[in-house]
Amino acid sequence: MSDILRKRCKSLRLAYVADLYEKIPFENPEQYVTALLEQELELRELARGERNLKKAKFINEKELETYQWNGHIRFPPQLDQKELESLAFIQQKQNVVLSGSPGTGKTHLVTGLGRKACRNGYEVRFYRVADLMALLEKHWREGRFESFRRKFDKVDMIILDEMGYVPFSKEGAECLFQLISDWYERRSLVITSNLEFSQWNRMFIDSRLTAALVDRVIHHAHVLSFTGDSYRVNHALSMRNN
Ligand SMILES: Nc1ncnc2c1ncn2[C@@H]1O[C@H](COP(=O)(O)OP(=O)(O)OP(=O)(O)O)[C@@H](O)[C@H]1O
Ligand SMILES: [Mg+2]
Repeated sequence: MSDILRKRCKSLRLAYVADLYEKIPFENPEQYVTALLEQELELRELARGERNLKKAKFINEKELETYQWNGHIRFPPQLDQKELESLAFIQQKQNVVLSGSPGTGKTHLVTGLGRKACRNGYEVRFYRVADLMALLEKHWREGRFESFRRKFDKVDMIILDEMGYVPFSKEGAECLFQLISDWYERRSLVITSNLEFSQWNRMFIDSRLTAALVDRVIHHAHVLSFTGDSYRVNHALSMRNN
């Protein structure tokens, strides 16, 4: 491999060509160059997907492939399983709210969707709401909320897991409201919760803030209801019976 070839590849930001070019079968010039460039693109997308997965900071590695669709999710009229899995909602900057009782697979499903989105080239961020609130309060106290806010400039999908499990402080609620206003119609927001919308005011001290926040979240949202028993409980019982 000549130094000059490596240098040219570097100038053109071709990360893989120099290592690939000898491994690709040659039939004619057009076929060869096309195959070479296609491989470069493919490997580039794989690497981008891996970077996106790291940046998203998922709390587990659950995938869509291991999710069992056994009729326990009530879909809204305009969305079905296939449409949800296609991730078209991210392109359309729509929100998805998954609500239902504990252990019914909400976190697994949003993680699987988020991981697929990363591999498809989307920038995703995953937060447990309690962790995000702690971060927001910290940045607020240190006068760094504005810089935190700008971290989402290039993000396509934000997953907020476990909304409503812990109440917010006044500052935390205001910061979250600012973020949700920033994201409104510009990013796709995916929220899981044990609470119905009507009970969201339990999280906030200020009921006007709750109303304004819920309004923004549901305007372009698909609301999925999770029914049935907890997987955790079922699993525990079946373990005991065995
Ligand atoms: N439909 C499903 N297919 C495969 N595994 C599932 C399914 N539903 C739940 N599980 C598994 O059961 C466990 C609990 O699911 P998960 O954490 O997603 O529930 P959850 O709805 O987020 O609960 P919580 O409201 O308590 O956070 C996980 O290990 C998950 O992988
Ligand atoms: Mg969960």
